[in-house]
Amino acid sequence: MNPTTPALPDYLNLSETVRERMARLKEREVVLEVRNMGKKFKTRRGDVTALNDINFKTHRRELVCVIGPSGCGKSTLIRILAGLESATSGEVLLDDKPVTGPGSERGMVFQGYTLFPWLTVKKNVMFGPEMNQRGSFTAEREARQWLELVGLEKFADVYPHQLSGGMKQRVAIARALVNQPRILLMDEPFGALDAQTRLKMQTHLLEIWKNIDITILFITHDLDEAIFLADRILVLKANPGEVAEMIEVNLERPRRVEDLTSAAFMATKARLTELIHAPVVEPDDGVQLHLLRMTDISDVVE
Ligand SMILES: Nc1ncnc2c1ncn2[C@@H]1O[C@H](COP(=O)(O)OP(=O)(O)O)[C@@H](O)[C@H]1O
Ligand SMILES: [Mg+2]
Repeated sequence: MNPTTPALPDYLNLSETVRERMARLKEREVVLEVRNMGKKFKTRRGDVTALNDINFKTHRRELVCVIGPSGCGKSTLIRILAGLESATSGEVLLDDKPVTGPGSERGMVFQGYTLFPWLTVKKNVMFGPEMNQRGSFTAEREARQWLELVGLEKFADVYPHQLSGGMKQRVAIARALVNQPRILLMDEPFGALDAQTRLKMQTHLLEIWKNIDITILFITHDLDEAIFLADRILVLKANPGEVAEMIEVNLERPRRVEDLTSAAFMATKARLTELIHAPVVEPDDGVQLHLLRMTDISDVVE
């Protein structure tokens, strides 16, 4: 070993506190279970295996991040969990019940701003409860509570275009949580924000999560974001999308900004970098063309 570089602690060598926390966490009930799940897309060029034999569980009030290179199936996975897409094989269980379509026990927050531009912030949040026949008085009370929790009570009556990107995503979080889902599914929700706003939003999400009974599955391609937020990180590899590793994050809670430069953080980041930048077999031209057409365009256009 080079004597000038200090040895990093092994990312698997969890501190006593983290190890105990992990043990407690795994004793909690399983909220989401994915069993031998696979997804093939039929295309004119033949079948594309987006996901192959995915297995994992998330426990109550756990925060799991999913990370992996572009095209490894992260969005496909979350769309299947949301019930927007169906798996080709295996199963997804939420509280032991098979997922067969969308449901109010799963809240979604995407990267793109998905608020209704013609509704005020409050009306956007009230939308779900009103759809669920909650009555407008109750819906409004609930919307106000959640807006307060995300720190936007003063903005209840403005329209989405009057808000910054970070604020819009806070409304999106309130709008998902107002339906009191069991699990919050987030697909790169802070991907479009600048680095500082992103860190603020991450800290803010952890604050919210600390105060409520919710399990979070958070997709990102940002290594720092995954380590900063997660209890465990599900690392996927591409072609086909498979589980490379499930990593327990060796950081105590509450997380602090200083954690981002700690030795434990660096050790985990080194491992993630190794996994994500592992050499991959290049697909042939036909598949590559296909990838360009099918993946989220923001990944390929700089
Ligand atoms: N509707 C679809 N039809 C065909 N192939 C698709 C479709 N959606 C995604 N894919 C393919 O599945 C793979 C995973 O895509 P995606 O889940 O978007 O990855 P990620 O979100 O990790 O970038 C890619 O090869 C992509 O081209
Ligand atoms: Mg994606």
